[in-house]
Amino acid sequence: MPLVTSTEMFKKAYDGGYAIGAFNINNMEIVQGITDAAAELKSPLILQASAGARKYANSVYLVKLLEGALAVHPELPIVLHLDHGADFAVCKDCVDNGFTSVMIDYSGHPFEENIAESKRVAEYAHEHGVVVEAELGTLAGIEDDVKVAHGMASYTDPDQVEEFVKRTGVDSLAIAIGTSHGAFKFKPEQCTRNEQGILCPPPLRFDILEEVARRLPGFPIVLHGASSVPQEYVKIINEHGGALKDAVGVPEDQLRQAARGPVCKINIDSDLRLGLTAGVRKHFDEHPEHFDPRQYLTDGRQNIKDIVMHKIKDVLGSDNKI
Ligand code: G3H
Ligand code: 13P
Ligand code: ZN
Repeated sequence: MPLVTSTEMFKKAYDGGYAIGAFNINNMEIVQGITDAAAELKSPLILQASAGARKYANSVYLVKLLEGALAVHPELPIVLHLDHGADFAVCKDCVDNGFTSVMIDYSGHPFEENIAESKRVAEYAHEHGVVVEAELGTLAGIEDDVKVAHGMASYTDPDQVEEFVKRTGVDSLAIAIGTSHGAFKFKPEQCTRNEQGILCPPPLRFDILEEVARRLPGFPIVLHGASSVPQEYVKIINEHGGALKDAVGVPEDQLRQAARGPVCKINIDSDLRLGLTAGVRKHFDEHPEHFDPRQYLTDGRQNIKDIVMHKIKDVLGSDNKI
């Protein structure tokens, strides 16, 4: 089937108490690892490209990679989504070039400017059959070259969500309830440590999520910064020459809880990076004589597939939904 929008996916996910994984793509091995996992588990998928991904791979290659994935897995419903579109121009470019969903991220701008830009994108995208995600509130962490310090992040204000959605006409809303971008989501002083010395982060603000859902019944909510930073992969990286100190993510049981409720899209990028890197580092350590990318990237790609299968089955609950 051709690329689809997320409209039908989100409706089923909301009613069915599960979420769709939105996985970031940057190259062929990442697309293959994710789509092979989703095909095996019969899960709908959102594949998303950031500005950095479009610059690295060239947006044309990304669109064509998805065409390849759809040719191999014609039964898979796949959305091609722009992640963190900085302004109308970037969103328009993606609408005009084959994306079926775009995010306008004006969350760092004042409320009225966020409304105006998000509305402009929604009007243009809808005229072209493309759906739109916007964001209210600010996450901590790193996305592209923008770093938001932990102290500068702000939770979504539930008092603003109804007005925002009504005035912009967007199709889904990303909110800030304590998730954060990257593999270092919380400062050690924000966490406690368990008996193995692993950092345990502060819980997500489910009270805010519930209040948002009460104001927007049936409306799809999105969680960014939702990698769980699996410690087994951090350990492999560190045991094979890496130096990721105090990497910490969002506990998966909390993501599962969010997926059962109004959260219909859960964004995961850092976990895939960790999986790919762990596979490659271990491979080089164990086979110093290898220099064929097909050898070490096979291990990285396999880790991506394993991680996505685990997310679909145990976190998102989106298996057997196509
Ligand atoms: O939200 C950020 C995503 O992880 C994309 O990261 O901008 O480095 O491609 P990137
Ligand atoms: P992570 O860094 O937690 O994977 O978040 C990815 C994301 O939100 C992409 O928009
Ligand atoms: Zn994000």
